[in-house]
Amino acid sequence: MQSLPGFRDFLPGDCARRNYIFSRWREVSRRCGFVEWEGPPLEPTELYKKKSGAEIVEQLFNFTDKGEREVALRPELTPTLARVVAAHEREFKKPLKWFSIGQFFRYEKQQRGRLREHFQLNCDIIGEKDPGADVELIALCIDVLRAFGLTEKDFVVRISDREFWTDFFRDNSVPAERWGDLLQVIDKSAREPREKTAEKLGDVADLVFATLKGGGKSAKLERLVAGLRVRGLGDFVEIDVAIVRGLAYYTGIVFEAFDRAGKFRAIAGGGRYDNLIAQLSDGALSLPALGFAMGDVVLGELINDIPGAREAMHDAIANGSKIDIYVVVAKEERRADALAQIQELRGRGYRVDYPLTPAKVARQFQAAEELGARIALLYGDEWPQVKVKDMTTGEQTLISKNDVISRMEPLLR
Ligand code: HAM
Repeated sequence: MQSLPGFRDFLPGDCARRNYIFSRWREVSRRCGFVEWEGPPLEPTELYKKKSGAEIVEQLFNFTDKGEREVALRPELTPTLARVVAAHEREFKKPLKWFSIGQFFRYEKQQRGRLREHFQLNCDIIGEKDPGADVELIALCIDVLRAFGLTEKDFVVRISDREFWTDFFRDNSVPAERWGDLLQVIDKSAREPREKTAEKLGDVADLVFATLKGGGKSAKLERLVAGLRVRGLGDFVEIDVAIVRGLAYYTGIVFEAFDRAGKFRAIAGGGRYDNLIAQLSDGALSLPALGFAMGDVVLGELINDIPGAREAMHDAIANGSKIDIYVVVAKEERRADALAQIQELRGRGYRVDYPLTPAKVARQFQAAEELGARIALLYGDEWPQVKVKDMTTGEQTLISKNDVISRMEPLLR
């Protein structure tokens, strides 16, 4: 029996890599003043039908539950966030700066960088319309990627503005009911043959292509980039009006992070969605909002592809998985004494391992080395003394069993 297509098994090495990503995500989000929250993995299908847009609805993992409810595994977090904020906003001072790490499900065609489940870091700011919040959010996205040892040579954040396109449609007398569809077509234009895009764009095709080619001018985007330049982050961003994002709810600034070499799919994406909370609360509450999500799949591929980032990950994992103490049971008669001390050492927070069954002393020292133990404690003929071996220097000393606990602190400091 194999796992379903697009679903991963996480063996210990995979789990270590995943947790490395999670720990950096969490660390940088907290460093920037974001607080963690979480929503449910299953939601009413209606939430996404109303809010996410056609593409995501086609990819829903949805079913009817035993209570005859139409439900879906979450494909993204933003509609849940809007629902939760609409229900609880009074309990919190604005602006909210919230982050979340969780698993998401999309019934996509499995391909490189796209699976049927993935993990995302979501960072959102709710209740702030000032453009300084957009700068802060993009700076956070850049800082998160930098925390993996990635530089401006490895990735770029492409910034755009949906208002640039809605202004463009208005100026060219395109009826408002066509805007949503046209934005979707522009979003896909880089991935589809030009003729197909031209057909879908219809009478505005030439104008859109000319604008995409010319790069498009936007004072709002220039100001945003200037805000990032002030923070020393100018080299990490580019204005690119071809980015419009596939999700329906964005209203203003939108952005996506890509690897510079153009080998992979988007690493992260987000933008402003100033109307979503009002729509979800039927107009009862209106709060500006913006956010982004970064997935673990493409990020993992990019880390593996960039030697510096890959080494930083391996070092962090190797250091994080080391144990402090390996207990060598040299004489089985001493096993009970050793176990009593193991229990106490673990209770004090040390990482301690030992052989579950009798083994040769040499094999036990080998295990100590493989597990990265800094100290080996040997329980044998010397009892009631214990032999302490510093695994780095090889130095050995004898200490009384009563001193084992107190001597560990200076030795492992
Ligand atoms: P999204 O662009 O759909 O945005 O997804 C964000 C990131 O999640 C993508 O850039 C990609 O790295 C990863 N991702 C998405 N789908 C898959 C997949 N099938 N397999 C692997 N990775 C995937 C959103 O989800 C928005 N809700 C982001 C947001 C938050 N906007 C405002 N706040």
